[in-house]
This record gives sequence, structure tokens and C-alpha cells, in this order.
Amino acid sequence: MNYELKKLSISDGRDIYDMLQEIAKDENGFINTVNGMTFEEYKEWLISRDAMSKGIGLEDWQVPSNTYWLFVEGRPVGTGKLRHFLTDKLRAEGGHAGYAIRKSERNKGYGTILLKMLIEEAKKMNIEKILLTVRNGNTNSIKVALNNNGRIENVNEERYYIWIDC
Ligand SMILES: CC(C)(COP(=O)(O)OP(=O)(O)OC[C@H]1O[C@@H](n2cnc3c(N)ncnc32)[C@H](O)[C@@H]1OP(=O)(O)O)[C@@H](O)C(=O)NCCC(=O)NCCS
Repeated sequence: MNYELKKLSISDGRDIYDMLQEIAKDENGFINTVNGMTFEEYKEWLISRDAMSKGIGLEDWQVPSNTYWLFVEGRPVGTGKLRHFLTDKLRAEGGHAGYAIRKSERNKGYGTILLKMLIEEAKKMNIEKILLTVRNGNTNSIKVALNNNGRIENVNEERYYIWIDC
């Protein structure tokens, strides 16, 4: 199998758009605003996400973050986000990374591979360890984190706090 992690580009096209329609607007706290957008709105969104990775146009609570696509055999199957650093708010909710696999491609190991590749990216960015904040009921995501040597450091009524060394 050929796996490739590509960073979002403003020239991304229909294949990524179609994938993002297969990921809910909000599933377990993973937010996908492209679901329900027109193709033209998505092209504008690509420009704002690209700017966000450079720290441009951020809201007060936001930090720079990169968006990636996982391709398997040349087809996009999932998306990941990686924040460059944490704030107190993100330490409580959000963490460094988020990921989602399109519905038709779940339970094939791709979520585990996507997180592995996000960790490699974090290492390149000199991030020593990443935090994942996973909702309690999200067993599959917790498994994805544990498959990548995640250490559960805390659990509260809402979330698991899982750290992974890069
Ligand atoms: C969480 C998510 C990314 C997992 O992606 P995935 O490609 O299905 O993950 P994997 O195939 O690597 O599976 C991970 C584990 O979950 C299990 N799993 C995944 N889907 C399953 C299903 N439908 N039924 C039972 N087990 C399932 C796998 O068996 C595997 O367990 P194992 O490690 O014991 O073998 C995917 O379900 C998703 O996109 N969810 C919505 C967004 C989300 O919740 N993101 C995380 C926010 S923190």
C-alpha cells in the first residue's frame, strides 16, 4: 500500500472536497466546516486554512495549525490537523492534533497510520510530545492513540488526555 501525507494546498481540488463531504460537521468534537459547503466556498476555505497555517487571520483563541490529507494509493481517505503549540484552553480541550477518516474507509487501519504520520510531522516541527484530548465514548479514537504509544495521563467526566512522544 502506498501512503502519503500531503499538506493542504490552495490548489486542492474535487477529490478532497468529495472526501470532506463524507466526514460529518462535528463528530466527537472533530470539526469539519467544509461539510455542506459549495465547491466555491471550499476554495475560499482552502485559502483561509492555508493562511491559518502561517498564523494569519487567527481568532484570539486560535493558534497556527496545519491541515493534512492522507492518501492511500493516490486517493484521499482522511484528514488531520496539527496545532503548532498549546494554550491553557487547548490543554483542557483540543490538544495538538485531530484526525478523521472518511466513512467508507474506516476500520482499515488508516486512522492509526494517519496519526503516526502526524506525529512524524510534529517531530519535524520540533514538537517533543503531542497532546490528544479524546471524548470518553470515542473508543476507536482512543485505540488509534494507544496504537501509537499514547500514554493516558488523565481522565475526567468528558475526556481522555493522552500524550505521545514524537
Ligand atoms: C476515530 C477514527 C479516526 C478511527 O479511524 P479508523 O481508520 O477507523 O481507525 P483504525 O482502522 O486505525 O482503527 C482503530 C481501532 O478502532 C477499531 N475500530 C475502528 N472502527 C471500528 C468499528 N466500526 N467497529 C469496531 N471497531 C472499530 C479498530 O478495530 C482498531 O482497533 P484495534 O487497534 O484494537 O485493532 C474514525 O472513526 C473517525 O474518523 N471518527 C470520527 C472523527 C473522530 O472521532 N476523530 C477523533 C477525534 S479525537
